[in-house]
Parts: sequence; structure tokens; C-alpha cells
Amino acid sequence: MEIRIRPLHPQLGAEVTGVDLAAPLSPEAFAAIERAFNRHAVLVFPGQPLGDEQQIAFSLLFGPLETSPEYAGSKKSRLSRPEIADISNLDPDGRVMAAEDLRLLFNRGNQLWHTDSSFKYVPARCSLLSAREIPPSGGETEFADLRAAYDALPEERKRALDGLVVEHSIFRSRAQIGFTEFNDEIRRALPPVPQLLVRRHPGSGRKTLYLASHASHVIGWPVEQGRALIEDLIAFATEPRFVYQHRWSVGDLVLWDDRCTMHRGRPYDDTRHRRDMHRTTVSDELNSVERERRTAA
Ligand code: OGA
Ligand code: MN
Repeated sequence: MEIRIRPLHPQLGAEVTGVDLAAPLSPEAFAAIERAFNRHAVLVFPGQPLGDEQQIAFSLLFGPLETSPEYAGSKKSRLSRPEIADISNLDPDGRVMAAEDLRLLFNRGNQLWHTDSSFKYVPARCSLLSAREIPPSGGETEFADLRAAYDALPEERKRALDGLVVEHSIFRSRAQIGFTEFNDEIRRALPPVPQLLVRRHPGSGRKTLYLASHASHVIGWPVEQGRALIEDLIAFATEPRFVYQHRWSVGDLVLWDDRCTMHRGRPYDDTRHRRDMHRTTVSDELNSVERERRTAA
């Protein structure tokens, strides 16, 4: 089988065929995938109906996996492996959640532009989302290329952004959708963290913005001023010229680079139709502010 890579958009996204992700990959095949990942940031693998174990095994090739706590409430999880984040509208019994279910509201936070786990001190390197069930309409996922957005900024703006540190917090993104019902354990476990606003993307060497709905304000600036800058940059970076929209088919696996893209889920009728997506999330190595400090020392 020969791996084929077909770009899907001028800036980001490519389709990968000619590979079976359920079977062990040769080092050459993985190298080809990694090269495409570093270049295109979003890879779509159609026709890969993976089980959780297979998804975990493929994801581990990219690094160690995050485990995800129950953010909203303390109900038992629907899925058995802690490495699989439940990106669905289903309750632990596999039924569509009731309209007032807190987890449904919490999950709608994924419809804001974000990058995964930027609210963690060591955020995500990449995420892999496997489509198990999809609704008849809506529920697409959009991806924005933050390297291309950075490149398109005027030079003066680039200089002004260099070195700025932004505070990220899960409470910031969920406050935007009116969700505040975090349990005490989550509140203690997820204090705000610093992230560099402009960084170098290790896989391509290109500079990139690092933005998310979790981004709250610029550290050392008046809060409102930093918030306005972040909103302005998110609006710019998500102009259609930087955005690829993925329409799902069951069996798609999509891999994206959290270090140089943002994404958002699009709405669907989530109190009527089922949407079941399983996500694995690979951790990055280091916090970006810490990396810079170490490099400077
Ligand atoms: C995610 C996410 C959006 C979607 O899985 O991290 O944000 O379309 N998903 O489900
Ligand atoms: Mn996400």
C-alpha cells in the first residue's frame, strides 16, 4: 500500500489514504504521516473505523496521552479508558442527554474557537478525533491555521506581539457560554496558566500565534486591553482564508496539531440527534514560557 497525501485547502489540511491505522505501522509509513502532519497541521484519514484500543495505540506514536477528568458533575463516565475523551451528546447509558444536562452545556464550549488543553500548564501537542456516529446535518469541525495568520500580520504588529504572555483558563472559556458549575476538585486542579502568544512551531520551524477561547488576558496589561487584543486576533485568524471545514463521515479519523491551529465544532441538533466522537489527546513536552526561560538561561 502506498501512502497518498492530498491537500484539502491552500493553508492547512490534507487527506491521507493508502494506510491502515488499525494495524502496526512501518517506521517509513509513520515518518510519512509525521512529515505531512508537520506541514499540513490537520490530517484527515477516511475509512478508519478504529476501536478505542487501536486509536490509543496509533495516538501513542505521537507521545504520551492525556487523561480527562469529568469536568461537569461527578457522574460516571460512559467510556472505559481514561485516555479517551467523550466528545458526544450521550449519557453514561448511551442515550442522548437531556436538554438540561450540565455536560451537554459544558461540551457546547467546544463550539468556541479553541486549541485543546491550552488551560493546562503543559498543553496538548495534538488531538485525534474518531467519528463513531454523526448527526444527519451540522456537527462539522472547523480548523484555523495560526501559522498562516501570523504570516499575514503586518510586520509592525508582529513585533508588538513578540514576547507577550497570555493567561489561559478553562473557567474563561466556559464563562463565555454561561457555564460556571465546576466542582471544587476541578477548580483546585486547574489554576490559570501562562502561554506565549507567539511561538515557534517545532514541526515546521514557522512562527505561529497561540490563541484559544481559554485565553483570558495579557499578563502585565490592563485586563480589558488584553482581552480586546485576544478577541481581535481570534477574529483575524479565523477569517475564511485561514479555515478548513471538515464534514464528517463515520470512520473518519482526524488528527490536528494543537500547537499551531484552533478548531471549533459547529452546532447540530444535540438534543435530538446522536453524535459520538472519541478523542485522544497527546501531551506537549513543556510549557512555552518555561521553554523560553530555559533557552534564554
Ligand atoms: C475536540 C473538539 C469539536 C467537535 O474534540 O477537541 O473540540 O466538532 N471537538 O466535536
Ligand atoms: Mn477541542
